[in-house]
Amino acid sequence: MHKSLHGMRCVVTAGPTVERLDPVRFLSNRSSGALGYACARAARSCGAVVTLISGPTALAAPRGVAVVAVESALAMRAACRHYVRTADLIIMAAAVADYRPVRMARQKLKRRTARLTVDCVANPDILAELCRRRRPGQWIVGFALESTRLLAQARRKLQAKGCDLLVANTVAAIGAAQQQAWLLWRDGREQRVGPCTKAALARLIIQAVVQSRRSL
Ligand code: CTP
Repeated sequence: MHKSLHGMRCVVTAGPTVERLDPVRFLSNRSSGALGYACARAARSCGAVVTLISGPTALAAPRGVAVVAVESALAMRAACRHYVRTADLIIMAAAVADYRPVRMARQKLKRRTARLTVDCVANPDILAELCRRRRPGQWIVGFALESTRLLAQARRKLQAKGCDLLVANTVAAIGAAQQQAWLLWRDGREQRVGPCTKAALARLIIQAVVQSRRSL
């Protein structure tokens, strides 16, 4: 595996996106960013030139990795569109918020009523978009986070989004030191991995990419 991605360009997304409601409140997802950062580190240690597009996290930039800090799903999509143009490998580990408030209030919303309804609009599916627009030879890894029917939902997402490899996690993985996961390839292969640390899982994901590209 050593330097097996030498000379390749890799874009990784990580962390949650934050969708502002007013200057102090937001909608977001539970995500530490740990698995995405570990993927960036693993790709870098295999010799890739890595750009990490990250939502807000408490993590330090992995050594030798260029970090592009973003906040919202729309900002993450703009950064992805820019950086994937030259990418050979794209790893979409971010927990993108599926919805954003239709409007961001300029001033802090005051607590005047017993109930509040927030009008939201769906964010674009960045992964599906990148898969639709991909260049020949570009490899795309997606993730799935599920609380029920893990494999059935993951198989559906793999097909619907059109990525080459999908890493399926359960919600138990959020913030956990050790986790299990399933790797699902487009050709129908499936492999259960773990329990292992997120760093070990990231190395397995990169190894799976390296081996799959070799057998193309
Ligand atoms: N993803 C994305 N853009 C979105 C939502 C998700 O790029 N707006 C990507 C994630 O980075 C991940 C994959 O799509 O690689 C699956 O994310 P997940 O949250 O599991 O699925 P969703 O597509 O959001 O579907 P649902 O919330 O219905 O389970």
